[in-house]
Amino acid sequence: MDNTIMATTATALILVSLIGGAVSQRPNIVFIVADDLGWNDVGFRNSEMLTPNIDKMAREGVILDRHYVQPLCSPSRSAFMSGVYPFKSGLQHDVIQAGQSVCLPLNYTIIPQELQRLGYATHMVGKWHLGFCDWACTPTFRGFDSFFGYYNSEEDYYMHNMSGFLDFRDNQEAEWDYEGQYSAWVFTQRIVDIISTHNMDQPLFLYLPYQNVHFPTEVPKIYEDKFPHVVNTGRRIFDGMVNALDEAIGNVTDALKKKGLYDNTLFLLTADNGGEIFSHGNNWPLRGGKHSLWEGGTRVTALMAGAGLQKTGYTYDGMIHAVDWLPTLVSAAGGTPVTDRDGIDLWDSIRNGLPSKRTEFIYNLDDLIIPKEGQAGIRMGDYKLLMGFPGTQDGWHRPMNNTEDDIYETTVYNLNPDKLQLFNVMDDPTERHDLTSKLPDVVAKLKARLLEYKKQMVAPNYPATNPNSDPRKYGNAWTPGWCKL
Ligand SMILES: *[C@@H]1O[C@H](CO)[C@@H](O)[C@H](O)[C@H]1NC(C)=O
Ligand SMILES: *[C@@H]1O[C@H](CO)[C@@H](O)[C@H](O)[C@H]1NC(C)=O
Ligand SMILES: *[C@@H]1O[C@H](CO)[C@@H](O)[C@H](O)[C@H]1NC(C)=O
Ligand SMILES: *[C@@H]1O[C@H](CO)[C@@H](O)[C@H](O)[C@H]1NC(C)=O
Repeated sequence: MDNTIMATTATALILVSLIGGAVSQRPNIVFIVADDLGWNDVGFRNSEMLTPNIDKMAREGVILDRHYVQPLCSPSRSAFMSGVYPFKSGLQHDVIQAGQSVCLPLNYTIIPQELQRLGYATHMVGKWHLGFCDWACTPTFRGFDSFFGYYNSEEDYYMHNMSGFLDFRDNQEAEWDYEGQYSAWVFTQRIVDIISTHNMDQPLFLYLPYQNVHFPTEVPKIYEDKFPHVVNTGRRIFDGMVNALDEAIGNVTDALKKKGLYDNTLFLLTADNGGEIFSHGNNWPLRGGKHSLWEGGTRVTALMAGAGLQKTGYTYDGMIHAVDWLPTLVSAAGGTPVTDRDGIDLWDSIRNGLPSKRTEFIYNLDDLIIPKEGQAGIRMGDYKLLMGFPGTQDGWHRPMNNTEDDIYETTVYNLNPDKLQLFNVMDDPTERHDLTSKLPDVVAKLKARLLEYKKQMVAPNYPATNPNSDPRKYGNAWTPGWCKL
C-alpha cells in the first residue's frame, strides 16, 4: 500500500468513527432564559402559578436547586455566554445602558461560537443585552447563524420600542412589521419556523432569552384571565406573563417533537436573576430580589431536562454558577473540555447526580456601587460572606395577593464599605442570622479568599452615554455602528 492510500484509509476510518460517535454525542441544545423570573414564580414551587410545561420538565428532568447567577441581566448573560465572571470583563456594575459604548468583550469565544465549531446550527430569538454599539458585538457576528429579537434591557411587549424608538431586528434589519403583536407569540412563531426548516444533518442550538417576564407588566388578557382568584392586579398580570412563557415553551417542545428532534434535545432553563419585587416577581421565602446579592437576587429557578441526563426526576443540590454553562454545554455537545475560563464543566456531575466540582464562587466584586461603598460577596462551602452594600431589594416578601398594595420593602443601607455579614446558607437559606461575631475565623478565611479574587478585578466599564447612539440618526431605531471595539 502506498502512503497516499494508507492516509486516505486512515482518514476514512477517522471520519466513520467521528460520524458514528457524533450521532449519539451531539444533542440538540435549547437554552431558555426567563427574564426576571422569581424563585417562587413557577408551579413546582407555588401552586398559584400555572406552568404545566415547566413543571413537566422539572418532573422529568433535574431541578437545579443551587444555581447561582449575577443579580442583574447583562452581568448574568455575559457569564452564561462567556464562562467568565463579570468582575473580570468589566460588566459587574450594572446592566449595559442603551447609549453606552460597551459590549461583552470581543476577546471571549462565546457559547454559539464554540457550538458552531462543533458543527451546530445556532439561532437566537429574544433579548441580547450584551451590547450593540459596534456591529461586531451583535449576535450574528458572535456565532449565531440568525438573530431575531432586541438589543436592550426592556421594551414594550407589543410595540417593540424603548424610550420611544424601535428595538427589534431580524438579523441586521430593523423590523417594523410586528407592531401590535405580543413578543412571546412573535418569538415562538419564529422559533417554530426555525425548527421546521432545520436541516436534520446538523445538531441544533437554540438560545431563547424570552422577554417574559421582565417589566413592563403586560400580557394579552386571555392569560391574565386565568387568575381571577389573584386579587393584586399587577401580580395577576404577572402570573399571566409567566403562563404565556410556559405556553411558549410548550409550543417549542411540540415543534421539536413534530420535527423528530425532541428525543435528542437537551433543555436548560434558567432565570437571569431573581424576581423584581416592584414588578410583581416573587422570591419567597428567600431574602431580597433582583439587584441584590441576597439569595433572592442570585439563587434562581433553573432546571435541565432531556437528552444525555442519566439520572432524572430529582432535585440536584450541587453548587452551580452561571459561568459554568459554557464549559458544561460544550461538554454535553461532545466538545473538547474548555478549561481557560472561570466556569467548570459540570456535565458529568449534573447528568449523573454526582457532587458538584464547584465548591466556591464570587457573587460579585464592584467598587462603584453607591459612592465609596463597594459590593462584594463570596461563597465557600456552606458559608457566604457579604462585604459592603448587598443592594436593594432587601427583605422577605410573601406572594402579593392580599391587597392592591402589599409590595413593601425594607431597605438596608450599610454605609460602611467594610461592613461584613456572614451566613450559613445551608442551615439558614433565608439569611436571617448574621454569624460574623460568632465565627470570626470563618469570616477571616472567606475575606482572605475574597481579597485574593479581587486582585483579578478590572474596573467596571461604565461610560457616559455616547451621543452618536441617538436612534434619530438611524431612522428612529436603536441601531449598531456608533463605536469601534
Ligand atoms: C388571594 O386572596 C384571596 C382573598 O384573600 C383568596 O380568596 C384567594 O384564594 C387568594 N389566591 C391565592 C392564589 O392565594
Ligand atoms: C478580555 O478583555 C477584557 C476587557 O478588555 C479584559 O479585562 C480581559 O482581561 C481580557 N481577557 C482575556 C482572556 O484576554
Ligand atoms: C412605544 O410607542 C408607542 C406608540 O408610538 C408610544 O405610545 C409608547 O410610549 C412607546 N413606548 C416605549 C416604551 O417606547
Ligand atoms: C402556542 O400555540 C397555540 C396553538 O397554535 C397558539 O394559539 C398560541 O398562541 C401559542 N402560544 C405562544 C405563546 O406562542
